Amino acid sequence: MNENKKKIWITGASSGIGKALAIKFATNGWQVAVSARRESLLQDLNKINSNIHSFPLDVKDEFKTKKVFEYIIEKFQTLDIAVFCTGIHDPNAEKKLSSETIRQIMETNFFGTLNCVMATNNYFKEKKSGHISIVSSVAGYRGLPAASGYCASKSALISLAESIYFDFKRHNVRVSVINPGFIKTPMTDKNKFPMPMIKSPEYAAEKIFIGLTKKNVFEIHFPIAFTMIMKLLRIMPNWLYLLIASKGISKIKL
Ligand SMILES: NC(=O)c1ccc[n+]([C@@H]2O[C@H](COP(=O)([O-])OP(=O)(O)OC[C@H]3O[C@@H](n4cnc5c(N)ncnc54)[C@H](OP(=O)(O)O)[C@@H]3O)[C@@H](O)[C@H]2O)c1
Repeated sequence: MNENKKKIWITGASSGIGKALAIKFATNGWQVAVSARRESLLQDLNKINSNIHSFPLDVKDEFKTKKVFEYIIEKFQTLDIAVFCTGIHDPNAEKKLSSETIRQIMETNFFGTLNCVMATNNYFKEKKSGHISIVSSVAGYRGLPAASGYCASKSALISLAESIYFDFKRHNVRVSVINPGFIKTPMTDKNKFPMPMIKSPEYAAEKIFIGLTKKNVFEIHFPIAFTMIMKLLRIMPNWLYLLIASKGISKIKL
C-alpha cells in the first residue's frame, strides 16, 4: 500500500454512481476501498483498476460495518474521505403504501448510512481531519408520489448531514451532502416515467469528484439546471407546490 496516496472509502460501489465514482478516484491515483453486498462486482472493479480494493458489506449490519471499517484502516493505515452512496428505491414497489416497504428502505438508506457514519465517527474525530459525504437526493427536498419511503429516507439523510456538520466541524472534520438529479443507473432503469435532464454515472462521478476534492461546499448538487428547479419547488409555499406537482403527476400518470 502506497502511504503517500490519498485514500477514500465508497459504499454502494458495485454499480451506478458509486461504481463510476470509485473508477474516477482510482484513475486519479487515489487508493479506493469499495463496499456493497455483491462481492464479485467489487472484485471486477479491482480488475479494472488495481487501486480499487474490495470490502464487501451489508450496511444494515451495524457490527459488520464497524468491523469492515477496521479492516479498511488496517489495510490503508489512513483515510481521507468516506462517501456513503448506498441506496435502494423501486417506484413500482412504492406505488402501494406499505409500512414494511418503507421500513426496509429506511433500514438501508437511512440506518445503513448512519451505521457507516458511526463506524467512522471516532476515527475522524481523533484524527482531527477528514471528510464524510452522504449521498442523498433532490428527492429529499419534497415529498414526491410513489416514493414515500425513498423521499423520507433522503430527507432524513439531508437533515442528518446538516445536524452532524456542526459536531464534526468542532473536530476539524468536513461533512457534505450529495444531491444528484436523475442519473442513469440500475436504480433509475426501473422508472417508467420520463426523467428530465438525465445524466450518465460518469457525469455524476465527475461532478462529485470536483465537489469533494476541489470545492469546499456543503451541498454538491447536479445537474444545476434541474436541481435549481427542485430547489425552487422546495422553497415554494406548500399549496403552490402541491398544486403544481398534482398537475404534473396527472400528465405522467404515476
Ligand atoms: N440514480 C439516480 O438518479 C440517483 C439520484 C439521486 C440520488 N441517487 C442515490 O445515489 C446512490 C446510488 O444509487 P444508484 O443510482 O447508483 O443505484 P444503484 O446502481 O442501484 O446502486 C446502489 C448501490 O447500493 C448498494 N446497496 C444496496 N443495498 C445495500 C446494502 N444493504 N448494503 C450495502 N450496499 C448496498 C448496491 O450494491 P449491492 O446490491 O451489491 O449491495 C449498489 O452498489 C443511492 O443512494 C441513490 O439513492 C441516485
